[in-house]
Amino acid sequence: MIHFLSRSFLFSAIVLLLSTTFLAAQTQKPTVYILATGGTIAGTGSSSTAAQYKPGDIGVELLLAAVPELSEIAEVKGEQVVNISSQDMTTQIWLSLAHRINEILLQEHVAGVVITHGTDTQEETAYFLNLTVKSHKPVVLTGSMRPSTALSADGPRNLYNAVACVVAPESKGQGVMLLMDDRILSADDVSKTHTLNVSTFQSPNYGPIGYMYDGKPIFIRSSHKRHSLHSEFDVSTLNDLPRVEIIMGYAGANDLFIRAAVQAGVKGIVYAGVGNGNAPAAALEALAAAAQQGIAVVRSSRLPSGPSTQGNEVDDNRLGFAASWMLNPQKARVLLMLALTKTTDYQEIQRMFWEY
Ligand code: DGL
Repeated sequence: MIHFLSRSFLFSAIVLLLSTTFLAAQTQKPTVYILATGGTIAGTGSSSTAAQYKPGDIGVELLLAAVPELSEIAEVKGEQVVNISSQDMTTQIWLSLAHRINEILLQEHVAGVVITHGTDTQEETAYFLNLTVKSHKPVVLTGSMRPSTALSADGPRNLYNAVACVVAPESKGQGVMLLMDDRILSADDVSKTHTLNVSTFQSPNYGPIGYMYDGKPIFIRSSHKRHSLHSEFDVSTLNDLPRVEIIMGYAGANDLFIRAAVQAGVKGIVYAGVGNGNAPAAALEALAAAAQQGIAVVRSSRLPSGPSTQGNEVDDNRLGFAASWMLNPQKARVLLMLALTKTTDYQEIQRMFWEY
């Protein structure tokens, strides 16, 4: 009899344990890390209508406090990485972000990471992380065009949407995303297109990969470019990147800045050319001389959209140049810096520009 009672007690104890574990799992919210770097989303002005403001003025705790609704969808953990205007973003901060994100995403209970960031260079940071984060878990960058003190500040809504996007299962495997004004943009094509508008971020070649609606991401496409776990770049042991400069082409441009860059010891030059990545004769000659000295040269375009194609008006194969294909100059620089950690061969570099 006692044997029977102890067995039924044990059985009911196991059932109770399993059901509480199951219930806990159902009610436990996913963990999302918020890595704050500054920008307008952390900015403050003298009044809610003042145009002038100071970016990077409040910390991550105040950013989170402004969105109490976050606690309904996730366990958020805030970390202050830096508090800067993003025009002061550096490759060292990029590398520390990549190292920290890869460390965070190894934790099984973590759903993903949101980075709050100034908008001026957010597209560059997003693309760098798209090539260096080694996880299929979502990483979403966001920011704002109005400071935290502004009337109709856009930061709190963008922050809520970014966390809501990260906790959604369908966000896995999408690569690094940039989310603002309810639009989800892939890191490989997102670009800031307007100095003031809250809808400044666009994807000029492919369009958004999705939209936020009713607190959930609705994906309409996925990036067809290599990223995250499918990227060949590993920065885990790096604390710096090869120096690459961008030089802009325009009517009357000559070799002045190209020669200065070569003199400064750059490892790569991205030429933001006119039209399909074209350069005036004097500049082209200086670029060819740089390539002869072993400096990697990538032709890109100052235009907002369209590919910079190999062998159009410029004989890239003869000169040893690569063309940036769909990447704008600022993203081409990111890829070239990473490419130069692996190769200086222009044909291998060209392969990377087709694939990433
Ligand atoms: N200085 C700009 C930056 O931090 C402010 C613009 C913004 O964040 O929207 O990128």
